[in-house]
Amino acid sequence: MMGMDEKVRKTLAELGVNDAQGVEWLFAELRKTAERERAELISRGAPDQPQRERLCKALRDRWLARKGGFLSQVDENWLKPAGKDLKPVVGRQFNELRRFTPSLEIEKLVEALPLQQEASHPTELPLGSVAPRPAPRDLTLPGLRRPLGSIHPVTRMQREIEDIFLGLGFWIEGGPEIESTYYNFDALNIPESHPSRDDWDTLYIDSKTVLRTHTSPVQIRAMEKYGAPLYIIIPGKCYRHDNPDSTHSPMFHQIEGLAIDEDITFADLKGTLDFFAKKLFGEKVRTRFQPSFFPFTEPSGEVAVSCFVCDGQGCRVCKESGWIELMGCGMVHPQVLRNGGIDPDKYSGWAFGLGVDRFAMVKYDINDIQLFFQGDVRFLEQF
Ligand code: FA5
Repeated sequence: MMGMDEKVRKTLAELGVNDAQGVEWLFAELRKTAERERAELISRGAPDQPQRERLCKALRDRWLARKGGFLSQVDENWLKPAGKDLKPVVGRQFNELRRFTPSLEIEKLVEALPLQQEASHPTELPLGSVAPRPAPRDLTLPGLRRPLGSIHPVTRMQREIEDIFLGLGFWIEGGPEIESTYYNFDALNIPESHPSRDDWDTLYIDSKTVLRTHTSPVQIRAMEKYGAPLYIIIPGKCYRHDNPDSTHSPMFHQIEGLAIDEDITFADLKGTLDFFAKKLFGEKVRTRFQPSFFPFTEPSGEVAVSCFVCDGQGCRVCKESGWIELMGCGMVHPQVLRNGGIDPDKYSGWAFGLGVDRFAMVKYDINDIQLFFQGDVRFLEQF
C-alpha cells in the first residue's frame, strides 16, 4: 500500500482522486496519520533530553517544515494543481488541516514525551513505520485533545420549543425546503394575483419552484398525508430575499404549529400559546393577542408576551415597550382546510408560525442575528 510520504508527492490526478468524497477521504487519512505518528512517538518515549528534542523536531519538520513538510507538499501537489471543480473542496480541506495541526501540539511534545532511562526498543525507527508495541505503556500520559463542540443556540432554542409541544402531544413533521408555488402560495389561499405574495420576498428557482418562504406549506402536505385530527409542529429552514441586517437573514428558521380537530376554537389557540409562553419565558409572563392578517388564517392575530426581563416595565430587551412580539397565528381558513382535503364543516383548526432565530435572540439576549451564521467559535462556545 502506498504510504503517506508517497501520496503527498503525487497530484490528486495521479492518485486517481477525482471527486469531492475522494478528497475528503484523503484528507481524513492524512489527519489520522498525523495523530497516529504523534501517538506512536509518545508511546516510544526517548532515552534522554537531546534525543527527545531530536525526535520532536523530526516530527515537526516532517509535517510542518516550510520546505518539504507534508503540509507544504499538500499545498504544492494537491491544492495548486487541482482542477477548477475540485479546487474549492481541496482548499476547504487544506484550511481545515491547517487548523487541525495545532491541536496535535507538536511544539509542546518536548515536554509530553516520556523520558525512559532504558528505552526497551529502538527510538530511531523512521516515523510512519509501524513501531513495535512498547511495554508497559504509560497510561497516565496526556491523550490527544480534541476540541469539544457545543449545541448551536438556534438548535438549542428549536429543541426547547419542540419539547414543550411534544409534551402537549404534538408530533414533529418536516417538509421540503425547495417547494412548489402551489404549496408555498396557492394552496394557502395566496393566488398569483394576490398582493400578499409581495410580502414574501421570494427566491425563485423557476416559475413554479421556490425556496420556501415559510413553513406553512407543510400544513397542506400534512393535511393531505394524515387527514384530521392533526396536532403537529413543523420546524425548518426558510428563505427570503431579505438583506442581511441585525434582525434579518436570507436563511432563517421557523416553527409552525397546527392543530385540527372537531370543535377547535380561538380559545384553544389562546390557551395553548399562553401555556407555551409561560413554559418558555417563565410563569409570570402574560400574552397579548392583537388582530392581524394572513391569507391562510381567519381571523388572524399577532401574539406578544410581556417582557420577561422587566416584567412589562420597559427595558432594553423589549425596546422600552414592555412587550415582545412573538409570532403570527390564527384560525385555519376554511379554504385552506378544503385545499388540504379536510371538510371545514366537520373540522376546524388553529395555526401559528414563529421565527426560531428571533426567539433565540430574545431568550439569550443577542443583538445581531448574523452572529448565528458566522461560525465564530468565540461566540458559539458560550452556549
Ligand atoms: C409567516 O411566515 C407566516 N407563515 C406565519 C403564520 C403561520 C401565521 C401560521 C399564521 C399562521 P411572517 O412573515 O410574519 O409570517 O414570519 C414569521 C416569523 O419569521 C417572523 O415573526 C420572524 O420572526 C421570522 N422571520 C421572517 N423573516 C425573517 C428573516 N429574514 N430573518 C429572520 N427571521 C425572519
